[in-house]
Amino acid sequence: MTALIDPFARSITYLRVSVTDRCDFRCVYCMAENMTFLPKADLLTLEELDRLCTAFVDMGVQKLRITGGEPLVRKGILTFFRAMSRHLDTGALRELTLTTNGSQLARFAADLAACGVRRVNVSLDTLDPDKFARITRWGRLPQVLDGIAAAQAAGLRIKINAVALKGFNEDELFTLTDWCAQQGHDLTWIEVMPMGDLGNEDRLDQYWSLRDLRTRYAERFTLTDLAERSGGPARYVRIEETGQKVGFITPLTHNFCESCNRVRLTCTGELYMCLGQEDRADLRAPLRASPDDAALQDSIRAAIARKPKGHDFDYSRQSVSGQMPRHMSHTGG
Ligand code: GTP
Ligand code: 5AD
Ligand code: SF4
Repeated sequence: MTALIDPFARSITYLRVSVTDRCDFRCVYCMAENMTFLPKADLLTLEELDRLCTAFVDMGVQKLRITGGEPLVRKGILTFFRAMSRHLDTGALRELTLTTNGSQLARFAADLAACGVRRVNVSLDTLDPDKFARITRWGRLPQVLDGIAAAQAAGLRIKINAVALKGFNEDELFTLTDWCAQQGHDLTWIEVMPMGDLGNEDRLDQYWSLRDLRTRYAERFTLTDLAERSGGPARYVRIEETGQKVGFITPLTHNFCESCNRVRLTCTGELYMCLGQEDRADLRAPLRASPDDAALQDSIRAAIARKPKGHDFDYSRQSVSGQMPRHMSHTGG
């Protein structure tokens, strides 16, 4: 079968799958406090998600990242991981992984490892319990730290994702970095993106550019740019003094869209060709129309054929442009 290539000659080998729009936290940059969630009847079943993901794997997807909302709150999620692990066994998939808030990891880590998951990305913006409760609204830090410890005990590698937030975690740049070094976790910083219907001014007030963050690192450490890639948008540096690897995801200061290799599937079967654009394709209709995958594969190809060049997020004129009305939890980042 021919591979998925988009109009800009980018080969699509990475599928992010949001298995639920629900979450047990309410991070301020991701969700509103009072979210209306999809009725359960609108969700694809785990069998349908399996068929969809398998179609993508058949079409050349090599990396599958399960996201949410919080993926581990979806009922029966382990059944789904177990099912997907068969694609690791055949060698079709190179990586099966997830991005999680960590709250349920204590319960799931060992089983995830048994399904062939080798590393997890855990969102953690602060190590201060009070600040953690503030930024996640509903989250509690000790539960997440326990989850991370369980994942480590299960042999999973951990990458901490921290959204860089001005006036919030600027003062923890070195504490978070030191903690990751001590624990043996990788660390990636992310620039805050204008997603959701929060006021524009909020975003600009929150925005801490990674160019600035990097300058602060460089005042204390020697940084070496690494050529290595993890298949995602992060660019990595090594801190020579500690040997640790730190990633930067810079949708605002440095656009990485030219090397985009990914698309996003939601829990209702919509395929978003870009995180920063509204265009999407409905895959649920062709999925349900026939038990045969031909129509589904045609729909997937047609969708990839209109993948846009990139997002239009921009804060450079002291105002927010390119904002997306949907929340990050809809597509899982
Ligand atoms: P690895 O490199 O495999 O660790 O994963 P990753 O960076 O692709 O996955 P992760 O879920 O950790 O992604 C971190 C965050 O980067 C996402 O939640 C998004 O906020 C952001 N991100 C990932 N892909 C894109 C993208 O294509 N465009 C934009 N604008 N942001 C992205
Ligand atoms: N901008 C940047 N990153 C975000 N995330 C959620 N919302 C935003 C946003 N508006 C991050 C989370 C998590 C990942 C899924 O996306 O912190 O690491
Ligand atoms: Fe939940 Fe993750 Fe969104 Fe926070 S960023 S509300 S943990 S989905």
